Amino acid sequence: MAKELLDVARIARLVNHGPTVLASCRHEGVRNIITLAWCMPVSIDPPMLAISVAPARFSHHLIEGSGQFAVNVPGAELLPAVWHCGTRSGRDADKFEGAGLTAAGAETVGCPLIRECFAHIECSVVDSPEEGDHTVFVGVATSASVEAEAFDGHLRLVEPYHTLHHLGGSRFLSSSGELLTAG
Ligand SMILES: Cc1cc2nc3c(=O)[nH]c(=O)nc-3n(C[C@H](O)[C@H](O)[C@H](O)COP(=O)(O)O)c2cc1C
Repeated sequence: MAKELLDVARIARLVNHGPTVLASCRHEGVRNIITLAWCMPVSIDPPMLAISVAPARFSHHLIEGSGQFAVNVPGAELLPAVWHCGTRSGRDADKFEGAGLTAAGAETVGCPLIRECFAHIECSVVDSPEEGDHTVFVGVATSASVEAEAFDGHLRLVEPYHTLHHLGGSRFLSSSGELLTAG
C-alpha cells in the first residue's frame, strides 16, 4: 500500500457518503481508537470536519486533552476491528493490539494513524461545543492522505475498496451493497 498526500481542500470527498470511521487519538503517551458513525465535513475552506463524541468515552478525554484527532476511513474488510473499537474502551486495553491494527506516523498531529485504513484526515480541534449528551469536536484538517489505488481521479472509490455504513446495532452495509453483521 502506498499512501500519497491529498490536498486538504478535498477532504470532504472522503466522508461525503457517511462511512463509519475510526478516530485515533493520543494524549500524554496514551493512544486510542474509537469507532464513530457521527462524523461529517462542515467547511471546505478552511477544510473542517466535526465528530460527535460522548463525554463518557475515554477518547473524549484524550481528544479534549490533546486538541487533536485523526479520522481514518476503514474498508469493509475491517468490520471486526471497527466492532472491536466500538464495543471496548481504551481505558481497559490498547485497541491497536486488541483489534490487530498498526499505528503509523502522522504528518501534522501527535496521534497515530491506522495503517490498514485507506484514507486519513489529521485534525486540530478549533471548537468543542457541548450539544445535548455529546461534544462536537470541530477540527480543521491539517493534512490528509489516501491509498492511491483506492480512488479514481475524482476521489471515487474503485474496486475492490468499499466503505462501511452503520445500520444500527451490529448491522452494517458495505458500499458493495452487501449486508454484514458484526460480532
Ligand atoms: C458502529 C458504531 C458507531 C459508533 N458511533 C459513535 C459516535 O458517533 N459517537 C460516540 O461517542 N460513540 C460512538 N460509538 C460508541 C463508541 O465507539 C464506544 O463507546 C467505544 O467503546 C468508546 O471507546 P473509548 O472508551 O475507548 O473511547 C459507536 C459504536 C459503534 C459500534
